Amino acid sequence: MQQQNRQCILLLNLVLLLHQFFQTKAHVPAIIVFGDSSVDTGNNNYIHTIAKSNFEPYGRDFYGGQPTGRFCNGRLATDFISEAFKLPPVVPAFLDDQYTIEHFSLGVCFASASTGFDNATANILSVIPLSQQLEYYKQYQEMLRSFQGEAKASETIREALYIISLGTNDFIENYYAMIGSSRSKQFTTDEYIDFIVGIADNFICDIYRLGARKIEVAGISPFGCLPQERITNQDKIGECKEDYNIVAQNFNLKLSILVDKLNKELFGVKVVFAGLYDLFLDVVRNPEAYGFENSLMGCCGTGLFEEGILCNHKTLTCPDASKYVFWDAVHPTERMYQIIADYTVRTALSIF
Ligand SMILES: *[C@@H]1O[C@H](CO)[C@@H](O)[C@H](O)[C@H]1NC(C)=O
Repeated sequence: MQQQNRQCILLLNLVLLLHQFFQTKAHVPAIIVFGDSSVDTGNNNYIHTIAKSNFEPYGRDFYGGQPTGRFCNGRLATDFISEAFKLPPVVPAFLDDQYTIEHFSLGVCFASASTGFDNATANILSVIPLSQQLEYYKQYQEMLRSFQGEAKASETIREALYIISLGTNDFIENYYAMIGSSRSKQFTTDEYIDFIVGIADNFICDIYRLGARKIEVAGISPFGCLPQERITNQDKIGECKEDYNIVAQNFNLKLSILVDKLNKELFGVKVVFAGLYDLFLDVVRNPEAYGFENSLMGCCGTGLFEEGILCNHKTLTCPDASKYVFWDAVHPTERMYQIIADYTVRTALSIF
């Protein structure tokens, strides 16, 4: 009898434990996104900049074939991640007034195409710097508190998944660009990496102080293999710029070291580094293994230089973008974003 009783209690404890386990696991009430065009779902439509994509053929494979300002033929990795957490299949842009706090309470995007960690990067095409994305996030918290009430809003803020995805533009648009800022005169590449990782450090501490506890920091891709970079490779036209890829690896390494440091320093936080460099490079080198036919050029136009306003309603496009790794000369296709999202959900995000 006693033996049976003990077994019963043990079983009950196990059930409770499992219940708790699955509850905490499933409990991501919102996705909150900061970053650049890799995650911008349309904020740039509402600011004065040429860094836009809210026209055809962008969005060709989105719901209703609608161009939304995503630099893609369809959805982005963050949209798929939201869906994987049983949240809406799209993350709305904060500046888009067709959405209200009711939508934003489940997910919101502050990202801006063409921005970087460095303010000087955002200034090049007058887009939203990371510091302003943080200001918008503070406004969002106010809106959330009036909508959900103090207690519920605090819970949403604490349990939400924060995704930070940027850094590539600090290099291709700024450091290495002819009409960038003077950063390349000021810093070696290693010093510049330290400079922007320092900004990432401050930014993550800022959102932590504001209540964030579950944070994903996305690594950057081997950007030396972007079609636009291959075609401008002075050493060997068409090959990946290996020096850029090394910079991407160094940046990712320092970002992952920062993540380890923050997990030790900030009480109660879970920061994960979501690396995609190796996966991305593998897809570029072995496209067939992933069901792609082309990993060298974008689907839009010649696929070598067209992006943003150069990829427009007059540009011819490939018939089936799902056969391409790149949609335009810089940005992945929806199918590539889905592969990245699936991988990220299975690996870095599995602890949430
Ligand atoms: C970027 O600009 C904002 C607004 O001017 C400023 O508050 C912030 O300190 C700057 N950040 C860096 C890292 O320079």
